[in-house]
Amino acid sequence: MKKIAFFPGDGIGPEISAAARAVLETVAELAAMPMQIEEGLVGGAALDAHDDPLPEASLQLAKTADAVLLGAVGGPQWDARPPAQRPEQGLLRLRKGLDLYANLRPAQIFPQLLAASPLRPELVQDVDILVVRELTGDIYFGQPRGIDVVDGKRRGFNTMVYDEGEIRRIAHIAFRAAQGRRRKVCSVDKANVLETTRLWREVVTEVAREYPDVALEHMYVDNAAMQLIRYPAQFDVLLTGNMFGDILSDEASQLTGSIGMLASASLGEGRGMYEPIHGSAPDIAGQDKANPLATILSVAMMLRHSLQQEEWADRIETAVNQVLDQGYRTADIASPGEAVIGTRSMGEAVVAALRAGAAA
Ligand code: NAD
Ligand code: IPM
Ligand code: MN
Repeated sequence: MKKIAFFPGDGIGPEISAAARAVLETVAELAAMPMQIEEGLVGGAALDAHDDPLPEASLQLAKTADAVLLGAVGGPQWDARPPAQRPEQGLLRLRKGLDLYANLRPAQIFPQLLAASPLRPELVQDVDILVVRELTGDIYFGQPRGIDVVDGKRRGFNTMVYDEGEIRRIAHIAFRAAQGRRRKVCSVDKANVLETTRLWREVVTEVAREYPDVALEHMYVDNAAMQLIRYPAQFDVLLTGNMFGDILSDEASQLTGSIGMLASASLGEGRGMYEPIHGSAPDIAGQDKANPLATILSVAMMLRHSLQQEEWADRIETAVNQVLDQGYRTADIASPGEAVIGTRSMGEAVVAALRAGAAA
C-alpha cells in the first residue's frame, strides 16, 4: 500500500490539486496500485486552523508517506504576519524537514503551445531545459537574518551561505541528470561578486572531474537570465543555488508558454515532494481559471521518481499531450481566438485521455 500525503494549500492550491489528485486516483485504479491518499494542512490553511503553517501532524504525515503532493501556499491575507507566521514558512520547513535538497524543474516545450510563448517559435521550439535547483540552503536558510535597528535606522539582513557538502551533493545530481540527457551542465553563480558562489564554482568544478563525459560551463546569473531569452536552446541542465533557481525557473517557464505548465520534484535521500513551480495565484483563485497541468505533470514526476511507475508517468504525459492536441486550453495557454476551458474541465479531459489510453 502506497501512502501519499496530500496538501492542497491556499489560493488555487485546492483547485489544481483536486485535478491532480483525480489523475493520481485514476492511475491507482487503472494500474490496480493500492494507494491511500491522506490530506493534511500546510500554509495559510494550517495557520487559520492551528496558528502554525506546518503543524507537527502535517510534518509527521509527510515523513511517513511514500510521496507528498502539494498545491501551493500563500496569499495576501497572511502577508502582514511576522516571518515565522507566514504560509511560505510551512513550505520551507517541509522542504527542510524532509531534507529535500534537490529540486528538479523541467522546462520542456509542448509543440502545441509554441504560439503561447511570448518568444518567437523558432527560439523556443528546441528548448528542453532541466533546472536543478538546490532547495535547502542559500540565503533562504542562512543565519543570521532579521530586521533590527542600528543608529536609529531599521536594517534588514540575510546571509547567503553554502558549505561544500551542500554544493557537492546538488552538483552530483546535476551531472548525473546530464548523463541521461545532452551531457551539458551550465552552473549559475555570481562568483565575480559573492564569496558563497565563488566556492560554489570551485566545488562544482571539482565534482565535474568525476564526470568527464559531461561538459561544464559556468555562467554569471545576470548573463544566464539574459541568455535564457536570447538563445534558450543552448541550455541542457541548469545548475543553480536556491535563490537563483527560484528566479530563473519562473523565467524559464515563459519559454513553454505559461508558469502553469511547469512541474517539479523535490528530492532527497528519502521520499519526494511534488508540486507545481508556481504559487497560489490569488488573482485567479476560486474562479476555476487556473491551469492544473503543472500539478498533473508533477504527479507524473511522482510516479517516476517515488513510485517506480515509469510507464504510468509516461502515460500521464501522453494524456497531457493528447488534450493539448485536442485543443483544450486554459486561459493562460490560449492564443487569441482559441476557446478556453476551466481548471476542472482540463483535469477531466486528462482523466478521460488516460482512461481512453488504458482501454486502447
Ligand atoms: P504566482 O505564481 O502565484 O502567480 C504569478 C502569476 O502567474 C499570477 O498572475 C497568476 O495568476 C499566474 N499563475 C500562477 N499559476 C497559474 C496557473 N496554474 N494557471 C494560470 N495562471 C497561473 O506568484 P505570486 O503572485 O508572486 O505569489 C502569490 C502567492 O503564492 C504568494 O503568497 C507567494 O508567496 C506564493 N507562492 C507560493 C509558491 C508555492 O507554494 N510553491 C510558489 C510561488 C509563490
Ligand atoms: C517556489 C516558491 C517558494 C520558493 C516560496 C513560496 C517559499 O517561490 O516554490 O518557487 O521561493 O522556493
Ligand atoms: Mn518561486
